[in-house]
Amino acid sequence: MKGSRVGIVGAGNVGATVAYSLAMRGVCHEIILRDNKIERAKGMALDMSQAANAARQHTVVTVAEDMSQLTDCDVIVITAGSPRLPGMSRDDLLMINAKIMKEVVNDIKKYSPNAILVPVSNPLDAMVYTAIRETGWDRGRVIGMAGILDSARMAHFIYEKVKYGAGQIRASVMGGHGDDMVPLPRFSTIAGVPLTDLLTDDEIEEIVDKTRNGGAEIVKYLQTGSAYYAPAKAASIMVEAILKDTKQIFPCAVMLDGEYGYKDVVSGVPVALGARGVEKLIEVSLNEKQTAQFAKSCASVQELIDTLNKNNFFGDK
Ligand code: 2OP
Repeated sequence: MKGSRVGIVGAGNVGATVAYSLAMRGVCHEIILRDNKIERAKGMALDMSQAANAARQHTVVTVAEDMSQLTDCDVIVITAGSPRLPGMSRDDLLMINAKIMKEVVNDIKKYSPNAILVPVSNPLDAMVYTAIRETGWDRGRVIGMAGILDSARMAHFIYEKVKYGAGQIRASVMGGHGDDMVPLPRFSTIAGVPLTDLLTDDEIEEIVDKTRNGGAEIVKYLQTGSAYYAPAKAASIMVEAILKDTKQIFPCAVMLDGEYGYKDVVSGVPVALGARGVEKLIEVSLNEKQTAQFAKSCASVQELIDTLNKNNFFGDK
C-alpha cells in the first residue's frame, strides 16, 4: 500500500463521514482532520479512533490544529466550503468556495507536496479546476468526487423501479456534477443485463430525472444541509483505490485535455484510479444524444470557469 496518511480538510458531515468510513475499513494508518472547529474535531477524532479499536482496525484519527500540521499526506480529501445560503447566487457560492479552495491548496502545496487531492466541495467541477490551476500540479493528481455518488444514486433509483438486483446494479453517470449531468442508461446493467432490456424508455427517463435531482431531494428532506453518507462513501472508495493502487475504474471529475473533444474544462469521465491518481482516462463512445448532453454539461462548467477568469481569480497563473 502506498503511504498511509490521509488528510481531510473540512470535518463537517461529509468530511467526518469520509474519515469514519476509512477508519472502519482500516484503509490507512492515520487520518488527520483539519477543521476550524478544533475542539469538535478533537472529540470526533478520539471517538473515531476508539471506534477503529472496536472494529479491530489499526487506523488512528488525529487533528491538525492548522494547515502546517497537515504534513506529508498521501491523499487529501477537501470538503471545506460554504453551503449555498438564501439569497446567494450560484456565482456567489462559486467565488466564496473558490477562494477557500485557493487558500487550502496553497497550504497543501507547502505541507503535503506529494499528495493526491480529492476535492468534494461544490460547485465540484469548478473546484477541481481551481485546485489544478492554483497548484499547477499534473491534472492526474486532482480528482473530484461526483461520478461515484451520482452513479450510486442512479443505481438506487433503478432498484426502486424494478425492486430486484440490489447490489448488482451498475449505473453509469458522466458529465459535470450539476443539473446537466449525463446519466447513461445505455451503459447501465443489472447483473450484466442491460437496463434497456428491462425497462421502457419512459421508465428510464424517470430514473434519469430522479438521478439529476438526487442531491436536491435529500436537501429538501434534511432542510439544514445536504447529503453526506453517499458522498462520503464515494470519496472513501476513491481514497482506497488510490492508496491500494487498485487501478479500478470509477467516474470522476477530471481536467480534460483533448479527450471527448474538450480541453481545459473539468468533467466527469471514467478513470482508472491508482497510486499516481488518474492512471488512465477512458474514452467511451457516446451516441449522438449522449454527445449532445455531454456538450451541454461541459458548457455549464465552462460558464463557471469563465466567471472565475472574468474576475481575474487566477491572476497570471
Ligand atoms: C450532492 O449531490 C450537494 O453535491 C451534493 O448531494
